[in-house]
Amino acid sequence: MDCVAKISEVPNFGKKVVSVAGREILLVNVKGTIYAVENECPHQGSPMNAAVVKEGYISCPRHGYRFSLTDGRCAEHPECVLATFPVQLNGDDISIALD
Ligand code: FES
Repeated sequence: MDCVAKISEVPNFGKKVVSVAGREILLVNVKGTIYAVENECPHQGSPMNAAVVKEGYISCPRHGYRFSLTDGRCAEHPECVLATFPVQLNGDDISIALD
């Protein structure tokens, strides 16, 4: 697992993009739970950092597909899956594991 950011850098209900091993990863803070997803929509590649987060889903800003923050599955189009990554918190450190 690589430490990629500090929790204090990702505000509650906020996001932060980090670059890990050449990939852009979006960190999302929902009431202290941190999720890590690919910052690229599996539909047509839109960046996800401007996405709206609501009720466990992140909605792509381009066509509104909603992806589960936990497993990346799209609510409307189950064949579309957003890559998600395991997150570990240690003190103020956020670590993620790329597959
Ligand atoms: S590019 Fe994300 S829903 Fe179309």
